[in-house]
Amino acid sequence: MTTLPIESQKTAQIRFQLNGEETDVSFAPYKTLLEVLREDLGHTGTKHGCELGECGACAVLLDGKPALSCLVLALECGGRRVLTVEGLGEDGNLHPLQDAFADLGAAQCGYCTAIKSAKRSREICAGAQAIFRFSKPSKPQCSRSQTRSVL
Ligand code: FES
Repeated sequence: MTTLPIESQKTAQIRFQLNGEETDVSFAPYKTLLEVLREDLGHTGTKHGCELGECGACAVLLDGKPALSCLVLALECGGRRVLTVEGLGEDGNLHPLQDAFADLGAAQCGYCTAIKSAKRSREICAGAQAIFRFSKPSKPQCSRSQTRSVL
């Protein structure tokens, strides 16, 4: 069996908005958004977990809605808006939601956090979605957003 060099596998290209910046990327057409973010763009804040759509460690906001990037082909993201945990804060500071999670010792993936089986990345994205949607979301609006994020 012959394996093509990595660079010659990059036959797909898209332009999309990543954390507010227009971004062009070339990649192998079989890659997921998670793989392209991490391997082709160096955005390692989005984590590999189960890669089965079960853990939420790979959660991003896709056009403002929580999405599991391990289940989305990068080819589907042309012209769309992707927000990762790296894009939530401003001026090098964490988003208040990320700060709150950090203050409580809640790591991103949630595997080792002693709060049931909560998955941080998914919750942060869902919380951020609620903030973007409602500006000052109520507790029920946050809860609804996080419940919906259990995709
Ligand atoms: S890596 Fe677990 S849901 Fe995507």
